[in-house]
Amino acid sequence: MRTAVYTGPGSAADVVAFREVDAPVAGPGEVLVRVAAVGLNPVDVKIRAAGHDFGSIRYSDRPGWDVAGTVAAVGPGVTGWGAGDAVFALARFPDAAHTLAELVAVPAGDLAPAPHSWSAAQAGAAPLAALTAWQALDAAGTEAAAGADGRRVLVLGGAGGVGHFAVQLAKARGAHVIATASPAKQAVVASWGADEVIDYHDRDALEAVAPVDAVIVTVSDTLPPRGAIREGTSVITITGFTAEQEAQLRAWGADPVQRILVVANGAQLTEISALADAGRLTVHLDGEYGLDDLAAAEERVETGRVTGKVVVVVEPRD
Ligand SMILES: NC(=O)c1ccc[n+]([C@@H]2O[C@H](COP(=O)([O-])OP(=O)(O)OC[C@H]3O[C@@H](n4cnc5c(N)ncnc54)[C@H](OP(=O)(O)O)[C@@H]3O)[C@@H](O)[C@H]2O)c1
Repeated sequence: MRTAVYTGPGSAADVVAFREVDAPVAGPGEVLVRVAAVGLNPVDVKIRAAGHDFGSIRYSDRPGWDVAGTVAAVGPGVTGWGAGDAVFALARFPDAAHTLAELVAVPAGDLAPAPHSWSAAQAGAAPLAALTAWQALDAAGTEAAAGADGRRVLVLGGAGGVGHFAVQLAKARGAHVIATASPAKQAVVASWGADEVIDYHDRDALEAVAPVDAVIVTVSDTLPPRGAIREGTSVITITGFTAEQEAQLRAWGADPVQRILVVANGAQLTEISALADAGRLTVHLDGEYGLDDLAAAEERVETGRVTGKVVVVVEPRD
């Protein structure tokens, strides 16, 4: 079968290549998936450029973590999945998963039924970013108040892959959602359900945000505005704070102040799939690329200007 490979650390144009390798088999507890689409994430391009592990995130010269496709075979001990089922997954993360190929073996516990209402491209684009948003909102404690009187959630970076899911999932959990975005993206962020959208260049507007219950930070080097923090505001970052930023947030009363790293979770992805089929969650595709255009897809992610998600579609070969 055909797989994408990295020939070493470096730029996408220099190191993205393709190779014929033996097809994987589904081992015990695994499902063999015929790949239809694979979402790209900033971590894919950062780890390719570096060519080494990032802490617990494993580098491999066989890239890819997101996947949507159909079940080709099930391994020993797997129940509940059968040939032809449409599935999606964040596979093995933070271990290496090798999804940018024609076939991939995925732990059954990472899989979920793909939403009927989404295209394969949308399903492939979603898992890592949607699970990150889901797990960030869980860490922020938004679930506890779901359906109550609308907790106030501020999403710093509402237009990106994680941010656009955070806006929608916070809304689905009953929150009043405030999101930041550049002027050109404010309308689309509002269309995902944000109650207020603030231009992130406008310091005065940011500082005028009244205290919120939770802040989800998806943008690097960004300290939440002082006015948004009250005693007990949860601040969850997916990009990390400097020691000074963390101390500042704690001095303002934020608690918890926590960095999370997404983990594969088929049960949560099944809940995400159900929300999609209930019409409460969509995937905005910034662009669809063929596998041959993987380098261009990675370069698009590298711009940092993506709206929603970039996805690679893997066409079946005769
Ligand atoms: N810890 C984890 O588990 C985890 C998981 C996923 C991602 N991440 C990390 O989280 C970050 C975001 O990931 P992502 O997939 O959402 O990235 P992304 O899709 O590449 O985000 C791009 C978006 O960010 C917006 N943006 C850039 N600067 C901004 C600012 N100062 N304020 C508000 N919006 C801004 C851009 O809008 P404009 O073009 O309008 O500027 C663009 O729409 C990355 O660093 C990624 O590596 C961490």
